[in-house]
Amino acid sequence: MNQHTLNSTPSTMDLDAIRRDFPILSRQVRDGKNLIYLDNAATTLKPRQVLDVVYDHYAYGASNIHRGVHFLSEEATKLYEGARETVRRFINARETAEVIFTSGTTSAINLVAKSWGRKNVSAGDEIIITHMEHHANIVPWQMLREETGCVLKIAPINDRGELDMAAFESLITPRTKMVAVVYTSNSLGTINPVRDIIRLAKVHGAAVLLDAAQTVAHTKVDVQSLDCDFLVFSGHKLFATSGVGVLYGKRAVLEAMPPLMGGGDMIKSVTFEKTTYAGLPARLEAGTPAIGGAIGLGAAIDYIQKIGFAAIADQEKDLLAYATGLLSELPGIRIIGTAAEKTAIISFVVDGIHPHDMGTLLDAEGVAVRAGHHCTQPVMARFKIPATTRASFSFYNTRADADALVHAIKKAIEVFA
Ligand code: ALA
Repeated sequence: MNQHTLNSTPSTMDLDAIRRDFPILSRQVRDGKNLIYLDNAATTLKPRQVLDVVYDHYAYGASNIHRGVHFLSEEATKLYEGARETVRRFINARETAEVIFTSGTTSAINLVAKSWGRKNVSAGDEIIITHMEHHANIVPWQMLREETGCVLKIAPINDRGELDMAAFESLITPRTKMVAVVYTSNSLGTINPVRDIIRLAKVHGAAVLLDAAQTVAHTKVDVQSLDCDFLVFSGHKLFATSGVGVLYGKRAVLEAMPPLMGGGDMIKSVTFEKTTYAGLPARLEAGTPAIGGAIGLGAAIDYIQKIGFAAIADQEKDLLAYATGLLSELPGIRIIGTAAEKTAIISFVVDGIHPHDMGTLLDAEGVAVRAGHHCTQPVMARFKIPATTRASFSFYNTRADADALVHAIKKAIEVFA
């Protein structure tokens, strides 16, 4: 690691100590190359503080929750419900009943589209999404359109990858039932003006769902201050394990949603003639959930809160500016997504090199990035490209990582020269 550039970051955090929390960062890949991990938008790395609690649960505390009368079950229930309270505080929900554990962002959006959507949306009603949505916030609404005959409207984006707010506003009508918007784009990095979006949606009484999968690891989210109806995110993009995620919903909205899945733990009583349902949040969490995952998510939130979003934002802002500056000087490069408000995600294409080839050549240097359409094919179509190579940063990345990325891209350009 280049100690000079590492130390020249303005961050107040002890980066060396933080990096030691992530065992994977000491790995070598591809014939002894140090791992340069720049695929944080796909999944974040996991610190020891999370891995330890997940390990401890399965090693010493494995048990099902809510059902058992024995010690381990009571202990696991306490930890699982404790994690729900940690999530509640993290997003400032009014009560823990508004925090539903799901398997991730995708299942949370599908739950809303299939439960809330079937109940509240009829033929001719409108759902508004944007041109920069991840497929997880497109396909469930298309499925709802198939079922109900509702109309799916797409708010356009400009050449910088920013939402066209005037066009967005003109799409909203009294028939708009839902505005489902990505908070931070996974392929462009754009941070959307969600407060303005929510204000405009409320004028017509539309519900708002925010896909915060790429947001919660980078900035404080306060659902009461935002006044969104739903907010969704994944644990694995928040330094926890995969298989756990969160659907936040306002109590009144969640209470009016019929359960999508029936089964254990979501009932009050069952007879063959009639079943009555449990209250929130259990009513929307049928079956055994990702218990260790939820406990790990609570630990991940504790971990990043100790570092603090102010320090995280400083570090990521510096990395974005530093890497963007270096990349912009490379010959034949085009950065896709140049919004004024941007998270530390840099998608790019280089003349004459397919993004997949670029990804493979970067990998040969130990630099892990994502190459492809990033589950946002309409974004690729909008920019008339098949794919991009995407470098995505987290607070444990360093300027030396950005240097390594640029060095590897230069080598790739030489190969294709
Ligand atoms: N949605 C994740 C990404 O952007 C998987 O890579």
